[in-house]
Amino acid sequence: MSPIQHGIRTLGVLGAGQMGLGIAFVSALRARVPVLLYDKSPEQVTKGLAFMDKLLEKDVGKGRIRSEDAKDARGRVTAVSELEGLRDVDMAVEAVSESLPLKQSIFKSLAAALRPDAILATNTSSISITKIAASAIPAGLSAASEQGKQSAGRVVGLHFFNPVPVMKLVELISAIQTSPETLDRARSFAAACGKEVTTSKDVPGFVSNALLMPFINEAIMHLEKGIATREDIDTTLKLGMNHPMGPLQLADFIGLDTCLAIQQTLYEGTGDSKYRPSVLLERMVDAQFYGKKSGKGFYEY
Ligand code: CAA
Repeated sequence: MSPIQHGIRTLGVLGAGQMGLGIAFVSALRARVPVLLYDKSPEQVTKGLAFMDKLLEKDVGKGRIRSEDAKDARGRVTAVSELEGLRDVDMAVEAVSESLPLKQSIFKSLAAALRPDAILATNTSSISITKIAASAIPAGLSAASEQGKQSAGRVVGLHFFNPVPVMKLVELISAIQTSPETLDRARSFAAACGKEVTTSKDVPGFVSNALLMPFINEAIMHLEKGIATREDIDTTLKLGMNHPMGPLQLADFIGLDTCLAIQQTLYEGTGDSKYRPSVLLERMVDAQFYGKKSGKGFYEY
């Protein structure tokens, strides 16, 4: 049996932060699909595209790709200034911050603006895909109607990992409403981007963050209790267990605000105290120490 074709001729990416930019990068370079990149901040798009130029230049410099391939990939990415600019895409991938109301409002707009057969994917790292899918039903339609089921059925979780050009995994999550065709096409698209795909049920944090976040939180609590220094905690895991980064460095890399948002979703979604965010993590975010992106987290950058 031949593999399901993703059929994505044009991709829309919402959010030009580190995740959105990475998704645009692998889609243009690996899947060779034209990408329309939207962010409400034009400065973010300019910054993101400049970073993409640097990544492509580095790959050419290291002999991984030819300069024509880099030029073609860059030529496939176009910035759009309005969300409506995505109306003709075959799939949109949302990669904005971890806020349910924000994602619900985006999916409501996408459901109204895009063709009924376009796939609506979210890169959320913890929020329920089922809740997001429920917002992707055009006004006036009930969730149980054929059109309502079809509209929510094109929503899927496509969870990439940071840095997207380097990390080999995509976690695929099906909402209760997701149609088998949506799931197959999304899986096929992730594979075309060069990623290995695992699947998870729609539980808070999916497999990846339900396992990673208690580990990071426990490391923060070890620091909070003065059990070891930040360096000793990280070095223990790096050298003792061969992790590429220690958990505190990894938390800074992911973003402490993102870690807190994920942990809150896990805690609220399960009621399980093992997911309760540490006070130190909350205080770091209160202080606007968001990690690498803000210049200070558990380390200084
Ligand atoms: N974008 C693109 N490429 C990047 C990058 C970025 N932001 N950061 C680093 N890289 C590339 C470098 O350019 C370098 O590429 P080359 O091999 O072509 O030179 C390569 O990654 C290795 O980088 P470095 O040599 O600078 O440093 P390193 O060997 O320490 O690797 C790392 C850096 C790849 C980030 C590595 O430390 C690592 O794998 N860390 C763990 C990352 C991780 O666990 N990510 C998942 C986080 S969880 C998540 O994303 C999901 C969630 O829901 C929270």
